[in-house]
Amino acid sequence: MIVCHCAVVSSRHITEALRGGARSVSEVCRRTGAAQSCGTCVFSVRQVVCEHVDRGGDPIEEAVRAAS
Ligand code: FES
Repeated sequence: MIVCHCAVVSSRHITEALRGGARSVSEVCRRTGAAQSCGTCVFSVRQVVCEHVDRGGDPIEEAVRAAS
């Protein structure tokens, strides 16, 4: 699923960034190029990060804070 249409970033790209060591939504955006243009996708990026945490991925402080 494409999350950021401006940079054509998919949920798979975001998951790969998390598995590669990204530890915040902003770091995921920096690594993938998401949310660097119009910015309307930032909440969708955050949702994918939270889903990663919910599925048992590495806990990410910012994501956990955003979901609570
Ligand atoms: S849709 Fe992601 S920056 Fe525009």
